[in-house]
Amino acid sequence: MDSFATFASFSLLLLLVTMQCEAQLSPTFYESTCPRALSTIRTSIRQAISRERRMAASLVRLHFHDCFVQGCDASVLLDETSTIQSEKTALGNNNSARGFEVIEAAKSEVEKICPGVVSCADILTLAARDASEAVGGPTWQVKLGRRDSTTASRSLANSNLPSPFSNLNDLISSFASKGLSARDMVALSGSHTIGQAQCFVFRDRVYSNGTDIDTGFASTRRRQCPRNTGNSNLAPLDLVTPNSFDNNYFKNLMQRKGLLHSDQVLFSGGSTDTVVSEYSKNPRTFLADFASAMVKMGDIEPLTGQNGIIRKICSAVN
Ligand code: HEM
Ligand SMILES: *[C@@H]1O[C@H](CO)[C@@H](O)[C@H](O)[C@H]1NC(C)=O
Ligand SMILES: *[C@@H]1O[C@H](CO)[C@@H](O)[C@H](O)[C@H]1NC(C)=O
Repeated sequence: MDSFATFASFSLLLLLVTMQCEAQLSPTFYESTCPRALSTIRTSIRQAISRERRMAASLVRLHFHDCFVQGCDASVLLDETSTIQSEKTALGNNNSARGFEVIEAAKSEVEKICPGVVSCADILTLAARDASEAVGGPTWQVKLGRRDSTTASRSLANSNLPSPFSNLNDLISSFASKGLSARDMVALSGSHTIGQAQCFVFRDRVYSNGTDIDTGFASTRRRQCPRNTGNSNLAPLDLVTPNSFDNNYFKNLMQRKGLLHSDQVLFSGGSTDTVVSEYSKNPRTFLADFASAMVKMGDIEPLTGQNGIIRKICSAVN
């Protein structure tokens, strides 16, 4: 009996230690330490989006670019220093990633009510959810408790962020390496239902004269994207409804009107055609899958427990 009691209490101890090491994200993480955090962030994000609707798109993308590079740890928000190689100047981010000042503003509002409590990584995750909701996309419960990195990696950002010139296999393996399925990848790409892209990322495609692009669409896009100038000229990723979160992106793909090469390969005779076709017919399935894929993306390698820090400002380590 004694040895059973010893065994039982040892097992309990082991269980507690294990639980401690694998601190889990939880929707109620700030409920006692900063009950007004979520509403404060939401108000701040909504204000920014009401000033500029595109900001919703930029914030969703910024969260993606955070999570794909050393996990959802706000590494994307760090500025360059003598010891930090900022991700802001990596290939997919330089002169492209936006919304840093919006996250910084939300952080400073939260610092006013609960200093040193809420991480930038969580604020960015919440901002992406609030942004989706603000432009007619789905909403979902955000798990919290991520902490902020003390490091960033431009080289990881260069290698881990998918390129718009990728083929389908590259895209599938890029997402698989982050624990996301091909179906998750198609659902998440559906966030190209909002926002804009610069001429230099779609020029090759609209001048290709390939069979994979609608000719009328290509010539329309060429008008705002000259061969040798206008690199930063913008075009909507969803030509039909660039300001609202709907399933027109998938309908466009079926008409060969995807803007990026990496958009069109999702419907180009490959294994994801059926998913695109399903989402084009059933917007509710798309919205539900998008929400669950966003939760999955937000789970990528968070720093929890004793790992990482709570930054005072998002652009620098304390
Ligand atoms: C599948 C691989 C993906 C590739 C290759 C890709 C590539 C790109 C590119 C090249 C742009 C235009 C950037 C510019 O011209 O400055 C863009 C914009 C955007 N991307 Fe993606 N993307 C991918 C997946 C995703 C995912 C998973 C999300 C979010 C869940 C996302 C959200 C966005 C949004 C919302 C915009 C518009 C941003 C704005 O207007 O500021 N993308 N993407
Ligand atoms: C980022 O863009 C700026 C401005 O266009 C350019 O001067 C700089 O070299 C780029 N940085 C990197 C690391 O490519
Ligand atoms: C595509 O067609 C346009 C106009 O017909 C032509 O100017 C251009 O050189 C062609 N591009 C390629 C890659 O063949």
